[in-house]
Formats: sequence, structure tokens, C-alpha cells
Amino acid sequence: MLAKIFSAATIGIEAKLIEIEVDITRGLPNVVIVGLPDIAIRESRDRVKAAIKNSRFEYPSGKIIINLAPCDIKKEGPSFDLPIAIGILAASGQINFDNLKDFVFMGELALNGKIRPIKGALPIAMSLKNSHKKLIMPEENAPEASIVEGVKTYPVNTLGNVSRFLNGVDSIAPLSPDKEMLSEKIQNYELDFSDVKGQFLAKRAMEIASAGNHNIIMIGPPGSGKTMLAKRLPSIIPEMTIEESLETTKIHSVCGLIPLKSSIIRTRPYRTPHHTASDISLVGGGSVPKPGEVSLAHNGVLFMDELPEFHRNVLEGLRQPLEDGYVTVSRINSMVRFPSKFMLVCAMNPCPCGYLTDPKKECHCTPNQIQKYMSKVSGPLLDRIDIHIEVPSVKYKDLSDETSGEKSETIRDRVKKARDIQLARFKDDKIFANSQMTYRLVRKYCKLDEPSRDLLKTALTELGFSARCYDKILRVSRTIADLEGKENISSDHVSEAIQYRSLDRNMWM
Ligand SMILES: Nc1ncnc2c1ncn2[C@@H]1O[C@H](COP(=O)(O)OP(=O)(O)O)[C@@H](O)[C@H]1O
Ligand SMILES: [Mg+2]
Repeated sequence: MLAKIFSAATIGIEAKLIEIEVDITRGLPNVVIVGLPDIAIRESRDRVKAAIKNSRFEYPSGKIIINLAPCDIKKEGPSFDLPIAIGILAASGQINFDNLKDFVFMGELALNGKIRPIKGALPIAMSLKNSHKKLIMPEENAPEASIVEGVKTYPVNTLGNVSRFLNGVDSIAPLSPDKEMLSEKIQNYELDFSDVKGQFLAKRAMEIASAGNHNIIMIGPPGSGKTMLAKRLPSIIPEMTIEESLETTKIHSVCGLIPLKSSIIRTRPYRTPHHTASDISLVGGGSVPKPGEVSLAHNGVLFMDELPEFHRNVLEGLRQPLEDGYVTVSRINSMVRFPSKFMLVCAMNPCPCGYLTDPKKECHCTPNQIQKYMSKVSGPLLDRIDIHIEVPSVKYKDLSDETSGEKSETIRDRVKKARDIQLARFKDDKIFANSQMTYRLVRKYCKLDEPSRDLLKTALTELGFSARCYDKILRVSRTIADLEGKENISSDHVSEAIQYRSLDRNMWM
């Protein structure tokens, strides 16, 4: 007999319906799976057989052919175990056929018939939105899938459980979405800016960076608190909208990074790739394309600590995502696109030993070593970073200060106001923040008065700034003015923005 079952496969961060046909004919016992399956699916034969037997069903004798269609989509992973098992049970007359076509089945099977969680629950549920199909999901993934309105998600835990449900013996109620997750409430971040003592300049720069969505690099000796500051940056960026949350969750979901039994991600991601990371792990790719760190950081922060230690080709790979806000991965028969809008935060020491700018410790690096170290980060990457700051060692006086600094929430409120001003300004320009202004938009929105122009001219000629930082200073000045709620950029704003160009001042070389 022939049975037809629906399942789904993820391609990038989208999902497509997959039809699984199971045909059982008389002949020598044999199982054949066709339709571009990967190794994990071929192994599914043995898992399904054991799971069926251990769930007290009969494993049919004869020749079983399983076809996964459409066959031009490469299918990977063990999430087809459950639909294949259901197909075999239906084709051998052990499960009721009548309403099989209304359901989409997802789930890996353990040998004892238990259903294990899968990857990509949210994109799969979203792809079913207008299909009138109901979703059978491992209970660990059901909360994530149930967020999608208009798709009924039934949480299941064993093969026996599913078959009794289909046969009308057990009833399972569809899971209702976690409403709290869909509300706009502010999510709590564990780390708070008030933990950082002193470092007022650095904190101010972080606030500006967050307000204008500017990328930022911190230079300072070890232990000065660079990592500490970076970790707290997500907490001062305004909360994610539901759309942003869904998009970020989809990316984490296809990588299997959503904690079990939890629903969507509501706090901005913070990713810290190690400096030994490969370009694929950073940017994404692979034979079945998977998102990289730049996409896992989508709508959040990507922190590259010890920037000069990263491989050069890895840093080169950051260009496209920084420029376009997405990564494209092309394969012979497919092309996928992973969104990658993130704030880039980099940290580095001023020299290989780290103590060049430290007044207390002596630096033992030769000028040659320092030159070589600094040159590793020059060029295209630095070109995408608007704000450079020095983070000096914390003073004992500041560290021992018992009064706590400003809370993240207070800073976030100011940032939100500045971002709202930008949203209104750019409503017809398809961008949302000052950092994204093109050459033309900078000319339109960053008009300078006479004193500001003079100041900038002096900076460019006398401090040895290159022409390429001209627009960056203007963009940052715009953000500083927005934080103050000022319509026009004044010389105060420009002079502060000039301060945030440490690396252009060639101070170390
Ligand atoms: N401004 C600060 N306020 C409070 N603690 C600090 C500060 N700066 C550094 N520390 C302490 O020093 C530790 C090391 O800081 P870290 O952020 O790792 O420095 P870096 O990344 O610059 O090497 C932190 O975990 C924290 O305990
Ligand atoms: Mg550090």
C-alpha cells in the first residue's frame, strides 16, 4: 500500500514542505530511501525500525520504498524519522489514513520510540502559515513553533503517542502561544552598565555607538574592562520589536541554538567568536549552508576581542555582511541569504604586550612589532568603524567607589529617544540609523555651521586625519546632536566626535 505524509525541510532560514511517500510491496525485505537524502536520513532506516518495534507495532516485511519529494532539495538531519515511521505504519495499515494529509510531522526518533527535538521549528511553523496544515512537533520545540499565529502545534513525545492521537484514541490539545513573549515588555539583562566603575569616556562612547548604531573599537591594556563594557552593550540598545525577535530566532533555530522548551528570543544576541574562528564559522556557509556568527549576532552585538589575532581572510569576510546587512551563500542548485545586521564591537591591545599606553607598566615591544601588530587591522574593516576609543586602566579611586553608576535602563531610554528621532528622519530613506547614511544622506542631514566647519578643517589638516574619516565624524556628530535632541549639529558635537578617532591620530606609530 502507498502512504503519503508531509514533513518540512529548512533551506537557509526558510522552510519548504516535503512530501514523503512510503510504498510497501511484496518482495525481499529491504528499505530504500530516495530523493537526495544525506547520511543522517539514510541512517534513519535503522532508527525507525527499532522505534516501531519498541513501540509495539509490527515492522512490515517486504520491500519498503521511501521517496522524499521534491528531490532537488537537499534534505539533511534526522528530523524525518517520525514522518517516515508514520508513513510505514500507515502503509502497513496500522494507522488511520483519513486525516494524515492535514498534518506536518517533525521529529527524530530514539530507538525506544521517544521523540527527540529538531532544529528549525520556528521557520517550519512560519512556512505553514497559509497552508491550513497542523503541526506535530516534539514537545521540546513546540513552544517555539506555537508562537506562529494560525498554525496549530501539537506537542508530542513518543511514536505511540502520535499514533494513538491519529487513531483517535488519545487527544492532544494544541499548544497556545506564550503571550508574555509576544508583549513588548523590556527583557531583563543579567549584566548592567552600573557594574562598570569609572570609564566615563568609554561609557559615553558606548551610548553614542548604540544610539547611532555605530561600530566601535576599544583600544587599551589588558584588564581595563573592554570585555566588561562590550558584554553590557546589548542592554542599552532599545528592545527588539517582535519582527526582529522572530528573525533572530529563526537564525538561532536552524542552528539548533534555541534552548529546549523555550519560545522566541527577546533579548538582543551577543556573540563572541574566538580569534581562531574560521571564515565559515564567522560568515556562514558549508555544503548545506548554515548561518555564521555574523548572522547569529543579527539585531545584536558581534564582539571581536583581540582583533589583530584574527586571520586576515576572516576579517576580509566581514566586509559583505557589514556593507549589506546580509550574507549570501551560493551552492550549485541553491542560493540562500542570511540576514546579518549587527553592531560590531572590537577590542585590541595597543601593542603585542598590551602595556604601551599604560602609565604604570613598562612596554617591551619594539616599534617594529607594534607597527606589525597595528597594521593587521588597517584597511577595509577599520573603514566600517565610526568610533575609536582608548580605554585606560581603571583608577583605584574609581574601582573602590561604592556609589553605583547609571543603570542600563536609564541609558537605554536616552538611546531610544535618539533612535526615534532617526527613525522619523529616515522614514523615506530605507535606513534606521545615522551609521547607515550614504554619502548623499550625510550631505543632506549633516549640515555644519561656520564654527563647526572651521573646527573640522583644523582637525583634518593639523591632526593628520585622512579624508576618509570626514564622513564618519559627521555621522557621529549627528548622533551626538540627536542624543541631545538638537536639530542642528554644533561645534561641541563635532569636537566630541573628533575625540573618537584615536586610530586616525596615528598616535602609536
Ligand atoms: N571599570 C571597571 N569597573 C569594575 N570592574 C572592572 C573594571 N574594569 C575592569 N574590571 C574588572 O577587571 C576584570 C577584567 O576586565 P576585562 O573586561 O576582562 O578587561 P579587558 O577585556 O580589557 O582585558 C573584570 O572582570 C572586572 O572584574
Ligand atoms: Mg578582554
